[in-house]
Amino acid sequence: MATRGQFSSKIGFLLAAAGSAVGLGNIWGFPTQAASNGGAAFLLVYLILAFVLAYPALMAELTIGRYARANVVSALSGLHPSATLKRAGFIVGLCALTVAVLILSFYAIVAGWMLAEFLSPAAQLLQWDSGASWLNAQSFSRNALMCGAMSALTIMIIARGVEQGIEAWSTRLMPALFLILLGMIAYVFTQQGALAGLKAYLIPDLSQLGNPSLILSAMGQAFFSLSLGVGTMLIYGSYLRDTDNLPRMGAAVTLLDTGFAFTAGLLILPAIYVAQTKGVTVFNDAGVLIAGPDLIFQVLPALFATMGAAGNWLALAFFALMSIAALTSAISLLEVPVSVAVERWGLSRPLAALFSGGIIFAISLLVIWQFDALFNGVITLTTVYGQPLLGVALCLFAGWVMHRHQLLKELSNGHPEIESTWFWKLWPFYVKFICPALILITFVQSLR
Ligand code: PFF
Repeated sequence: MATRGQFSSKIGFLLAAAGSAVGLGNIWGFPTQAASNGGAAFLLVYLILAFVLAYPALMAELTIGRYARANVVSALSGLHPSATLKRAGFIVGLCALTVAVLILSFYAIVAGWMLAEFLSPAAQLLQWDSGASWLNAQSFSRNALMCGAMSALTIMIIARGVEQGIEAWSTRLMPALFLILLGMIAYVFTQQGALAGLKAYLIPDLSQLGNPSLILSAMGQAFFSLSLGVGTMLIYGSYLRDTDNLPRMGAAVTLLDTGFAFTAGLLILPAIYVAQTKGVTVFNDAGVLIAGPDLIFQVLPALFATMGAAGNWLALAFFALMSIAALTSAISLLEVPVSVAVERWGLSRPLAALFSGGIIFAISLLVIWQFDALFNGVITLTTVYGQPLLGVALCLFAGWVMHRHQLLKELSNGHPEIESTWFWKLWPFYVKFICPALILITFVQSLR
């Protein structure tokens, strides 16, 4: 078998893992959840949960991945010689693979919407009005074509492998993403109303802290945002070099992800209030902030429309931001089935990418076709149930199936003095007991 791919540098891994983590969840999910859940109170709880709950779970995935140096199915089924644990690992691996495939099937649809909204102002700038309005309106043909285009881009990047595909493209796209975000923040802050948005974001409504739904939303958001539970971080960890310090890499990814979410809030919240100042409806009849798809597809476009010629460029920049963020997350999701197809079935990488991407695109088409019946159901199944439960399973594999000495040996690679650190004193216990218990408690609460 050909040698496995590897990230060629720390920064390559960091940008790839941050590329997976930073996505629509950061730019769209986080700011709107913060806006509807007490502003900075949500931010505070989110930050705590990201470091206390999601970071240890991320470390479980990275450590298993680098120890096993294999895809999620082979990694989990090869951690222990016992036949029962092998079978359990195989089943959990297959579940993770299935959830990754299903997440990508809906994520690619949303990514397609972003691409359409990006191309629409471009068409307008080129004075192609009929094209712009076709791109702007929901239709089967538009959704299928745009989702297909995003899927094709994802397949092309993954087909090129770890270094030439995932790493090279993350290294190009992530700085672009950050620059567009900063540029847009700078522009929005020149507009009236931005300061009110900033206040709503940063002044905490502490009365919300006791609200159980706030903690649930923050945990769900942290898990989705850090791409946990489905083997993306595990497979990226498996491409890390032995000389890299795992706890530090994991902490950097968590920081980049939360930092990006926080920064996106500096754009979205002020933009909502600027829109309100310009007479756009931003609260619904019940007085609740419009947060779902309507925020992205109605409120913000209405805001851009009030801005004349600059508005077209802003719309272009914003949806470029969303499309790039979606693409770097999509590639990490496609790598999960592709690595299984390459390593277990011996397919060549390009064929595996085409085959897995093709199947996922077929599922996306089914979801687009039966949208009302399937779309929300797939999202709930994968993100509300799948990710937290698989997150627990992966913590249990790291904490109970792997031996302490195996963990220590793996973590010592790239960090020889790990044994004397706080990380080593806390994490093994944490990943064994605290993380699974906390995730399960929060999960059960959420079902009530
Ligand atoms: N983390 C991505 C986001 O915040 O949009 C979404 C995601 C990517 C979830 C990869 C799960 C995953 F495996």
